[in-house]
Amino acid sequence: MAEGSIRISSFEIKTASRREVAAAHALTTRLQAEAWPEDPPRALADWEGELRTIPPYWAVQRWVAWRGEEAVATATTYFYNTLQNRHIADLDIAVLPEHRRRGIGKELLARLVTACEEGGKTLLTFGTDSALPAGRAFAARVGARAGMVSATNQLDLASLDRALMERWCHEGPHDLFSLGWWIGPYPEEELIAICELKDVMNTAPRDELEVEDWTWTPEMVRQSDAALAARKRERWTLYARHRASGELAGFTKVFWDPAQPAALWQGDTGVLPKYRGHGLGKWLKATMIARVLAERPTVVRVRTANASSNVPMLKINHAMGFRLYKEWTIWQVEAASVRAYLGAG
Ligand SMILES: CC(C)(COP(=O)(O)OP(=O)(O)OC[C@H]1O[C@@H](n2cnc3c(N)ncnc32)[C@H](O)[C@@H]1OP(=O)(O)O)[C@@H](O)C(=O)NCCC(=O)NCCS
Repeated sequence: MAEGSIRISSFEIKTASRREVAAAHALTTRLQAEAWPEDPPRALADWEGELRTIPPYWAVQRWVAWRGEEAVATATTYFYNTLQNRHIADLDIAVLPEHRRRGIGKELLARLVTACEEGGKTLLTFGTDSALPAGRAFAARVGARAGMVSATNQLDLASLDRALMERWCHEGPHDLFSLGWWIGPYPEEELIAICELKDVMNTAPRDELEVEDWTWTPEMVRQSDAALAARKRERWTLYARHRASGELAGFTKVFWDPAQPAALWQGDTGVLPKYRGHGLGKWLKATMIARVLAERPTVVRVRTANASSNVPMLKINHAMGFRLYKEWTIWQVEAASVRAYLGAG
């Protein structure tokens, strides 16, 4: 049972009072500082804006645990409003350090599982951060199994091997492919081809994770672009086009938040299987980092995450100077097993 005087209620950003929003933001700020101590805190308006602009291909429900007027824990379910994975719910539970080991996480989990059962979700997934070992212990206790371990690597730009980047740009397969940029929203006339290109990420390792492919549709891309624009995030995508066929062959993208100017997130990098082995991945990444150096001088570190089993991607990243920062484990467990665990208590 949770510690005394804890009250759990659902939290909806559109109807929450200003006091509740401020308290939930204070909670998130503390949790974020624990997980990402190098990063500056996010402003309330920025955080709130993110909650208000979740793309509709996610259906999100949130709960907050209150102790008086203080928000001490939060829990969220993400249901996939997508073509696949409609039987899965992704969960997130976080409790302030001084309130851990008192049953609050378990009580929040009970709310989430009830919502998942009502929504017909049978498989639950959630992630834990190697910097916060309590998450792994909790996962073990609820009977979850590790589906995939993902490495978050960080590149200190001061240690970037610039000569190597110049070489990768020079050695790129210029005769077979051309490079081009999409800055901001993707062009409407190429959305179908862009969806096919983005779907190449389904060929990245997923290890034991029992999730289905993620298939992009033009409408989902529009939703994602609208959310980015509303959040004032900048996204640069660099693509490679096969000269002979005109087909899109590969891409890499980065995200930059003007409110966090020192950090850049390197997002997906993918090359279609038939175009692999030409050095496209290196050419794309080196060209991208050259533009970042030239046009985003505030950036001092670049972060990226991919499966620890993704040898080709890690080889490129390590050669650039990316080093392991921490690991993110994605767990999976049947809703029925969690219900049995909760019932046994
Ligand atoms: C994981 C987390 C949410 C657990 O919250 P909590 O309120 O401390 O969890 P509870 O007190 O309800 O514990 C639930 C069960 O997990 C066990 N557990 C929780 N933390 C544990 C730890 N550090 N070591 C061993 N067991 C632990 C408890 O003993 C309890 O088992 P029981 O059912 O036999 O009593 C909390 O540690 C946290 O916020 N961590 C950072 C965020 C995170 O990793 N979230 C991942 C889950 S989505």
